[in-house]
Amino acid sequence: CLLFRSVSFDLCRSSYESASMRFSPADVEVDVAAKSLLVTGANSGIGKAAAKEIAKRGGTVQMVCRNKERAEEAEGEIMTETGNQNIFLHILDISNPKEIWKFAEKFKNEHKLNVLINNAGCMVNQRELTEDGLEKNFAMNTLGEYWGLSTYILTTTLLPLLEKAADRGVITVSSRGMLVQKLSIPDLQSANGTFDGTMVQAQNKRQQVALTEQWAKAHRNIHFSIMCPGWADTPAVSSSMPDFCQKMKNALHAEAQGADTVVWLAVSSEAMKLPSGLFFQDRQPVATHLPLASTYTPPEDEEKLMEVLEEFSQKFRSTSPGT
Ligand SMILES: NC(=O)c1ccc[n+]([C@@H]2O[C@H](COP(=O)([O-])OP(=O)(O)OC[C@H]3O[C@@H](n4cnc5c(N)ncnc54)[C@H](OP(=O)(O)O)[C@@H]3O)[C@@H](O)[C@H]2O)c1
Repeated sequence: CLLFRSVSFDLCRSSYESASMRFSPADVEVDVAAKSLLVTGANSGIGKAAAKEIAKRGGTVQMVCRNKERAEEAEGEIMTETGNQNIFLHILDISNPKEIWKFAEKFKNEHKLNVLINNAGCMVNQRELTEDGLEKNFAMNTLGEYWGLSTYILTTTLLPLLEKAADRGVITVSSRGMLVQKLSIPDLQSANGTFDGTMVQAQNKRQQVALTEQWAKAHRNIHFSIMCPGWADTPAVSSSMPDFCQKMKNALHAEAQGADTVVWLAVSSEAMKLPSGLFFQDRQPVATHLPLASTYTPPEDEEKLMEVLEEFSQKFRSTSPGT
């Protein structure tokens, strides 16, 4: 708990404001009209703010959202505010691995893609299962979008498409909340022990770090990065942690501030020059482990995670019609 509090302090708006004094405005004053960028969860919070900034710079934005009505509203807002008409909508529930396979295989054949932004996420405070019987945080963040499986399936399926493009990259929106967790492979679906949504999410965000590091090693021609937006005042935070949100109101980042490092990683050639596989906060690489925290993961554990996810994800692929 103390560890979580000390990490949280580092994620407040004041930390972003002092870091922003060293930002180079020229880094993001660029035209990305030649680029196509896919943003998951682009209708709200950090994803929408990032999509808007990319659209302002002329990029083609492929919005991937689960709710048609909310998505169309956000699409209209982005078009009106930026004047960019190259905004396209794809409806996908990213906690559904079978649907992710289908979407990604189709997308791969119909579009070009320079940058994939794995942003969509949620925080589930009670153990909930998807229709396939997967724990929701895990399905979205790692497997699907419950923080690992979705990131895994979407990214690996789109890698061949990214490989055909110039200035290609994958950016994953994680959280430095993952610093309190050591990578856990046996309990990928949080079936054992007491369910604590915050810690499950932190574990899933830790898994995304491992995925990014492993992809960076395996795919040298694509630039992988992962980042933390800091605590930002978004619907996810206000609905899942109302008391925290109320107390911290003045210390939370605005949505655009939370999205700033995503935009910088997506459009800046300076960011692309940095090594692949790093974790960023406030436009600079930061450590993925706290000093003396014993969260260090041996490379063989990260490799094991990739094997488990590959095997697990294939189960959903083989049962998907048309793939
Ligand atoms: N805000 C923070 O302080 C903070 C801190 C650390 C990390 N993050 C990360 O930042 C990312 C964005 O979160 P946010 O704070 O911007 O929250 P948000 O405003 O609630 O946005 C989350 C987005 O993800 C979408 N989404 C959720 N479940 C989905 C599903 N099953 N399929 C497709 N899309 C889905 C949401 O769609 P709906 O509108 O339909 O729900 C929404 O567009 C997440 O990965 C989160 O973990 C946020």
